Amino acid sequence: MPKGSSDVLIGLQYGDEGKAKVIDLLAKNYNIVARFNGGANAGHTIETDQGKVALNQIPSAIFHQNIELYIGSGCVVNLQKLKQEIENVKALGIDLSGRLRVSDQASVVQPHHLLIDEVTGGDIGTTKNGIGPAYADQVMRMDGKRLLNIRLGDLVDDPKAMFSQMKQNFVSALQRHDVSGRDCDEILKTMQEALDILMPYIERDTLFLSKRVAKGAHILFEGAQSVMLDVIKGCVPYVTSSRTIAGAAYTGGDLPPEYHRHTIGVAKAIMSRVGFGPFVSEFGGTQSEEYCMEAGGSAHDRDYEARTYDQNMMLASENPFELGIALRMIGGEYGTVTKRPRRVGMLDLVQLAFAARMNGIHELFLTKCDLLSDFSKTKSATMPIVSGYTLDGNKIDYVPGSNASYRRVQPVIEQLPAFGDEIRSAQSMDALPASLQDLLKRIEKMCKCKILGIGTGPKREEYVLRI
Ligand code: IMP
Repeated sequence: MPKGSSDVLIGLQYGDEGKAKVIDLLAKNYNIVARFNGGANAGHTIETDQGKVALNQIPSAIFHQNIELYIGSGCVVNLQKLKQEIENVKALGIDLSGRLRVSDQASVVQPHHLLIDEVTGGDIGTTKNGIGPAYADQVMRMDGKRLLNIRLGDLVDDPKAMFSQMKQNFVSALQRHDVSGRDCDEILKTMQEALDILMPYIERDTLFLSKRVAKGAHILFEGAQSVMLDVIKGCVPYVTSSRTIAGAAYTGGDLPPEYHRHTIGVAKAIMSRVGFGPFVSEFGGTQSEEYCMEAGGSAHDRDYEARTYDQNMMLASENPFELGIALRMIGGEYGTVTKRPRRVGMLDLVQLAFAARMNGIHELFLTKCDLLSDFSKTKSATMPIVSGYTLDGNKIDYVPGSNASYRRVQPVIEQLPAFGDEIRSAQSMDALPASLQDLLKRIEKMCKCKILGIGTGPKREEYVLRI
């Protein structure tokens, strides 16, 4: 009997590592690309000759017309946004009917989830997509007779009753959170319209993926968010609300683990994160955290920084906080939709090795390596990395399990020789500057995995590959 396989691709840091571009590169090796966690909180923009499209819930391989797309039961679905995404993709000439399937066991993001996230998510700095409240209701299941967890299949079976439940859930949330003057009728109407359009995409065969793989299909699971944002293994509570680690692909992705082949990690050469929480290698430390998160991140957004700072002056500054601003501006490290500034930090090899070990990473992609050349323009003209951790005076090789401990970690910072060479046109690893080659070898050794590719620029083809 021919038998298929599955690989899992995950981000190893705090999200936004450039996973979509890597998936785009690898997609041709697969028949199906599947999501297993998260919802519309994930965001990536894919640029190709056919155009540019921002995706939140649909897996990244949309431009590969012969690849099917699957959204697993581990995801939470925003109906209106999914409908909109399908329409945006269609505007580029790509019809997803018959190609995209969504598990009928995926939970629906309801109007009260958005409301609760808006009211309560500020201190975490959530994306306000209602993701946490939706997962919370999944676990709560019911409140007395009121059904809290409504899944796509429930909506298909009895839409009238389910929309009525959603209304009751909304009214109850208004009372509990002392919010008045809100109504959800308009939202429910747009949800109903979206459901009509989405109906053919809802997969009722709960063994769909298993059957396909048993017949020989090759699946790539696409992780959303990343390891350090895992609801249990990440920097709790400053995390997302789903499981983001590799193993989660086989619960949220609706496939037994027997087909697992490779685990692929994606990391960014200059790190970033959005939201509050520990970030040991952050340029400017807590000053940067507070600055980036002021007014929920909107006080110092992309437009503010563009009109306030000269990126070259900031790059030449001896102040790490200002260097961070420069690297954010050069790297375009702002939220895709919100324009919120992402906190920026040096590559943290301890955290990367920890994430690789925790998830059993076999292969690694290091994105945005071209940005490392900017360090040649700094005052010290060196490339800083974090190569060790000490906690309360003791050397450690892991990310502490508690937030308070992680905040106490002192990084060991090494200054490596910077390279000024343009690497965008490099075609092979051998053509890369020696200091970058040394860094890559060191990462492979620490992470015990092979680097399969490095990003050398924003375009689709700007990659040096070893595959
Ligand atoms: P939530 O997932 O919207 O609940 O947000 C929780 C935390 O995860 C916040 O700090 C978000 O900024 C962060 N987050 C959620 N999704 C992503 C993502 O796709 N990339 C980076 N950060 C994310």
